Parts: sequence; structure tokens; C-alpha cells
Amino acid sequence: MSKEVQELFTSIAPSYDFLNHFLSLSVDKRWRDKAVAALGKTAPARLLDLCAGTLDLTQKVLQKFPRTEVFAADFAVAMLEEGRDKVRGKAKAHRICADGHRLPFGAGSFDAVLCAFGIRNLEHRAEAAREIRRVLRPGGKLVVLEFFRPERFFSKLFYQTYGKYVLPRIGGAVSRNRKAYEYLQNSIQHFLSVEEYGRLLLEHGFQKPEVLPLSGGIAHRIVAEAV
Ligand SMILES: C[S@@+](CC[C@H](N)C(=O)[O-])C[C@H]1O[C@@H](n2cnc3c(N)ncnc32)[C@H](O)[C@@H]1O
Repeated sequence: MSKEVQELFTSIAPSYDFLNHFLSLSVDKRWRDKAVAALGKTAPARLLDLCAGTLDLTQKVLQKFPRTEVFAADFAVAMLEEGRDKVRGKAKAHRICADGHRLPFGAGSFDAVLCAFGIRNLEHRAEAAREIRRVLRPGGKLVVLEFFRPERFFSKLFYQTYGKYVLPRIGGAVSRNRKAYEYLQNSIQHFLSVEEYGRLLLEHGFQKPEVLPLSGGIAHRIVAEAV
């Protein structure tokens, strides 16, 4: 499964940014702003952007906190390569090819871990939550942006219409990989609800999960603190 996901993101990497902004009418940019806002006013010294993809979130973190050392980790090199220009000349940005289930960092390495639209792709959810907890220092912050399985009327309707019919057609035509955009829709339907994910975090060394629905619950931000 992980290998398939890796190949999928490798194949859509060249069109990923364009499609992301186009299909979301650029609302995805505001969602990432909300993720960075969750960090508050004090700059974290070291931050991990997990499943960093083409580095949109890394770029936003560095715009707000230029002194923060940001490690952008992803297992699809093509995605990291696509984002190269966004961090060109930024000595504090490091691009790392790594699997989210086995991070090449010591315990307590980070003050914050951010993950935008990546958690859903991590096949072994509990293992990934434990691994994120391991690399965070106690009191460190986890900020997740995700398309959780919809539970409410508006978000269910959105995914049963736009998500099911529009997204795979346009995404498939532009990226020439319809399967990738069908995967997106399927992975959302088979993922946890945001409440279930909050419980998973509580079971794996986190406390005080706080949930913020975005755009009527199409996406969510969840913030939790490492115990
Ligand atoms: C939907 S993209 C999100 C990228 C970026 N965070 C953003 O906001 O646009 C998901 C990313 O997760 C990465 N990914 C999926 N499974 C992974 C894993 N097991 N380890 C590391 N990266 C993974 C993919 O390669 C892809 O770049």
C-alpha cells in the first residue's frame, strides 16, 4: 500500500500544486495559514513538516518564523523536488526523504510537528501517531490538517457530489492519473472521523486535542500537545 501511495504521488508531482489550488479555488492556502496560526506567536526552534510534499507549508512556516529550523520530510522525492524553489537559499530548510512511520530523528527532536493532508496516507495510523509523539518533546505541539471522513450533512454532500464526480474527472484529466484522484476520494471515505482521530491521539501520548472545522467541515485542523 505505501509503495502504491509513493508511486501515486511521484506520478502526480508535476501537476500537484496547480491542481491543489485549482480544485480548491485556492482555499487550501487559507487552510495552511490556519495550521501555521496554531503555532502561536513564539517561534519553534525546530519544526517537522511531515508529509511535506511540495513544501507549501514549509514555505509558510518560514515566512512567519524565518529563524525556525524546518525539516520537510516526505517519502516521494519527486514531490520534494517539485518544491525546491520554494526554499531556495533558505539555510534553515532541510528536505528529507523519509517514511512517516520510521522517522530518522531522535526522541524529542522537535518543538512542533505539522502535517497537512498527509496523515490519511499513513497506512499504520497508531504506529505513525507513536512515531510523531516520539520525535516531539514533551509539551511539543502537533498540528494536523486533514480531510477526515465526513460526518455532517454539508461535508457528506460535498464529498458525495464534488468529491465523487468533479474531482476525479478534472484531477484525472490534468494529471493524466484518474486513479490518483479516485484514491483521494476513497481514502477520505475510509479514513477516521476527526473525533476518532482525536481519540487515537489521546491513546498515543497526546493531550488536549482541539478541533477546528474549516470551510464547513470539508477539512479540519486538529491541534494536540505531546504529554
Ligand atoms: C496530499 S500530499 C500533502 C502534501 C503537503 N503537505 C501539502 O499540504 O500539500 C500527501 C503527501 O504525503 C506523502 N506521504 C504519504 N505517505 C507517506 C509516508 N508513509 N511517509 C512519508 N510521506 C508520505 C506523499 O508523498 C505526499 O507528498
